[in-house]
Amino acid sequence: MATFDELLARQVGNEFAASQQYIAVAVWFHGQDLPQLAKHFYRQSLEERNHAMMMVQYILDRGLKIPIPGIEPVRNDFNNAEEPLALALAQEKEVTENIEALFAAARAENDALGEQFMLWFLKEQVEEVASMSTLLNIARRAENFFDIKISWPAKGLGTTARMAMAAGVPALRKPRVELSDPPRNQPTTVSIAPRLPVPSEGTQLGQRIGSF
Ligand SMILES: [Fe+2]
Ligand SMILES: [Fe+2]
Repeated sequence: MATFDELLARQVGNEFAASQQYIAVAVWFHGQDLPQLAKHFYRQSLEERNHAMMMVQYILDRGLKIPIPGIEPVRNDFNNAEEPLALALAQEKEVTENIEALFAAARAENDALGEQFMLWFLKEQVEEVASMSTLLNIARRAENFFDIKISWPAKGLGTTARMAMAAGVPALRKPRVELSDPPRNQPTTVSIAPRLPVPSEGTQLGQRIGSF
């Protein structure tokens, strides 16, 4: 069975792979002239990269070496706009399983520091799966993908973001997905969970690792 350190090194690659896949999804939406969904996934990609870099920093802090891995080819072709969203949800569910396995490995090894480090990611995955699920559900109801509006508040950080900042990880903002529902003509606002780094606010991690 793989050790916690081995699983974490592998997870660095998984997070970079998720980042690259989200770039491909963003570019596909971009090519379909769906700029809001494109922008959303460009930002999601950055978030996954930040996850990878948080793990890199932790591994360095523990005095271990971390070779940065290459990644497998990502999927670039989709038949309709639902497919990349379904792929994103499946990806988030898979990452959740990875993070759960990491937590279990740390606990089995009596690695309190490793266990504590994974807690933030467990909470993050609950929100990532929920938000991607919401986005997919909204997309399935939308008759026109242009009806999906995603916006990012100019100011203000949510509870999770403040907790993350206190723990020295990137400050994150919460975007909103809005759907103007044409059949009922009733605007629906749904808050979705992905949080975004705010590089300009110079978090502790950002200062330590450099700008990313
Ligand atoms: Fe992630
Ligand atoms: Fe994610």
